[in-house]
Formats: sequence, structure tokens, C-alpha cells
Amino acid sequence: MAHNTFSLLFVLFAALLAVANGSAVREVQRRDENFPARVPYMFPAPGTNAIADAIRARRGNGTLLALDGALLNSPLVAQGWNQFFTVIRENLTIPGDMRELFILRTAVLNNAAYQWGQHESVGRAEGLTTRQLTVVRFAAEGACSLADQKILGDSLAAALDFADAIGTSVYVPTHIYDNLARFLSPQQMVEAVATAGSYAFVSRFTVSLNVNGQMNAEVPVPM
Ligand SMILES: *[C@@H]1O[C@H](CO)[C@@H](O)[C@H](O)[C@H]1NC(C)=O
Ligand SMILES: *[C@@H]1O[C@H](CO)[C@@H](O)[C@H](O)[C@H]1NC(C)=O
Repeated sequence: MAHNTFSLLFVLFAALLAVANGSAVREVQRRDENFPARVPYMFPAPGTNAIADAIRARRGNGTLLALDGALLNSPLVAQGWNQFFTVIRENLTIPGDMRELFILRTAVLNNAAYQWGQHESVGRAEGLTTRQLTVVRFAAEGACSLADQKILGDSLAAALDFADAIGTSVYVPTHIYDNLARFLSPQQMVEAVATAGSYAFVSRFTVSLNVNGQMNAEVPVPM
């Protein structure tokens, strides 16, 4: 009996140790709010991997995201991604609120909760209001209603319809293209297509690889 109690205590103690150990390991590996993906996260220590360091330098707080940890399984894909998306995020001439509308609406169309989660605050910082974000989140696909158009304003409403066309059918009807082109130069139309198109890729990447464990998560409701 005494022996059994001792064994039980020992097993409990060993289990506690294992848990403590596990959380220590997780602490080292943890980046932001990351939950497991379908591939292991690669988070090279600072100063040990030039590609990871370049990505770190771009992230506002110098921390690799779950997305980066998935990308770094293929270092050259991670490097090319970082260079391309630096341009999309930092070097376009389309308005920042329109850029984020393309990104957020694409997340909605693809049910890419991780993408929305990373960009809602960026959208707000670029000037999208909660009412506008609610339209981006819930407007029926296809044709922006007059009420939604009032909330978004004409150029962002044109961008929403454009995002829906390119995002759901690839084929952008002439009236939807021309409606957005009233507000944008040819350079900016290229940038609009590059943004909506490339973030469809981001959705596919993050959902297919279950980045941050969010493949089945609902896109958040802006509040
Ligand atoms: C770092 O910034 C990213 C957005 O770029 C954010 O998702 C993340 O929560 C931030 N992490 C910390 C620890 O502040
Ligand atoms: C891109 O934008 C960043 C941030 O504004 C700036 O530092 C950089 O010089 C720009 N790159 C080019 C090639 O214009």
C-alpha cells in the first residue's frame, strides 16, 4: 500500500516535471500567439540565419510570426516572399486604406482568419473605421449595395467590387474594372491587382498549412 502510494507520487512528480519542461521548451519556441501548423515552425535564433534576420527586421516588433516560421521551412521561398511583400506593404502608391481593404476582403472571401487577424489593426491604422470594416467583413459578394457604398465612399466601394470579382472568379468584368480605374492610375491598377492577387496567395498559404492553427477558425467580427 505504502509502496503503491510512493509509486503514484513518483508518477505524478514525473508528470509535473514533464509539463514544466514542456512549457519551458514552448517558451523558447513561442512566437506571438502561435499554435501548431501542419509543418514545424522554423525560428532560427537571431544572428544565425540572414533570411530570418531580414524578415525580423521588417516585422514591427522584431518578432517572427507563425507565418514566418512556416515559410522558413523553404528559405528561398521565405526570402522571395519577404522581398515581394515588403513592396506590397511599403512601396505602393494606392491609398493605404484601399490596400488593406483588398487584403481584408480577400481574407473574408477565402475564410482566412489568420490573414484578417494580422490585418484588422493595420486597416484601422490606415483609417478604416469599424463601420467600414463591418461592411468589408459582411457585405454580400458581388455588388456593393448603395448603403454599403455610402459607408465606404465611392473609391473603396469600387475596390470592394473589384476584390470580389478578382477573388471569386478571376474574370473582372469591364464595368467593375473601369469603375475602379476612375480613381486609380495605370500604375495603381497594377498595384491593386498585385495586392488582391498576392493576398489570395497568402490566404492559400496560411489556410493550407494551417498557420497558427487557424484553418477552421471563423474570420473575426470587427468590434
Ligand atoms: C508583433 O507584431 C505582430 C504584427 O506584425 C503582431 O501580430 C504580434 O502580436 C506582435 N507581437 C508582440 C509580442 O507584440
Ligand atoms: C519602400 O518603402 C520604404 C518605407 O517607406 C522605404 O524605406 C524604401 O526606400 C522604399 N523602397 C523603394 C525602392 O522605394
